Amino acid sequence: MQYQNPDIESSFQKNDIGRTLYDLVLKEKPKIIIEWGTLYGYSTVAMAMALDELGSGHIVGYDLFEDYKYKHSTMEQTQANIDRYGVSKYVTLKKGDFDIWIQNPEPFDLLHVDISNKGDTIALLYDAVKDRVATGATVIFEGGAPGERDEIEWMKKYGLKKISDSGVPYKVIDERFPSLSQLI
Ligand SMILES: C[S@@+](CC[C@H](N)C(=O)[O-])C[C@H]1O[C@@H](n2cnc3c(N)ncnc32)[C@H](O)[C@@H]1O
Repeated sequence: MQYQNPDIESSFQKNDIGRTLYDLVLKEKPKIIIEWGTLYGYSTVAMAMALDELGSGHIVGYDLFEDYKYKHSTMEQTQANIDRYGVSKYVTLKKGDFDIWIQNPEPFDLLHVDISNKGDTIALLYDAVKDRVATGATVIFEGGAPGERDEIEWMKKYGLKKISDSGVPYKVIDERFPSLSQLI
């Protein structure tokens, strides 16, 4: 299907970062996409629209759902948004904890990590998947542009390390807030 900016609450929505996700999936043609941090399903739906356009591929979308103490969704609410866009056959939602999964990551062609990322998240991610990146897998994550995203109120409040100070090699692929980056 043709892309449309999903009408689903997300920090990605205002600047239509979904189009960047959609275009990346069209370009890379991943068979297996793993997403960590679905929230209400904005990024999941944007990528699933591209799988529908390609006619193949699948997303496993993980989240802590109600086990996350800050802003979260329920699996039912997220599934309802996915159903509303007619892309259910491309998505399986699962409940899980990134911190456990990253100790032994399952196979993927494209990995999207969006779990209220901070510098430590991206350093942990890089160490765990750098070999996969070297053999051709694509790993993208929310954030990475210096400035507004790294200086967001909750990062300052909890004294969290900036993603741009993580020491990890990555390139910013969409610098508009909140930005999107790719491990290199
Ligand atoms: C910024 S939101 C994701 C936004 C979403 N990708 C979008 O397109 O709008 C962060 C999500 O990460 C989830 N989360 C936070 N820590 C997690 C963890 N350790 N494992 C799994 N999910 C986590 C939260 O429940 C929340 O839904």
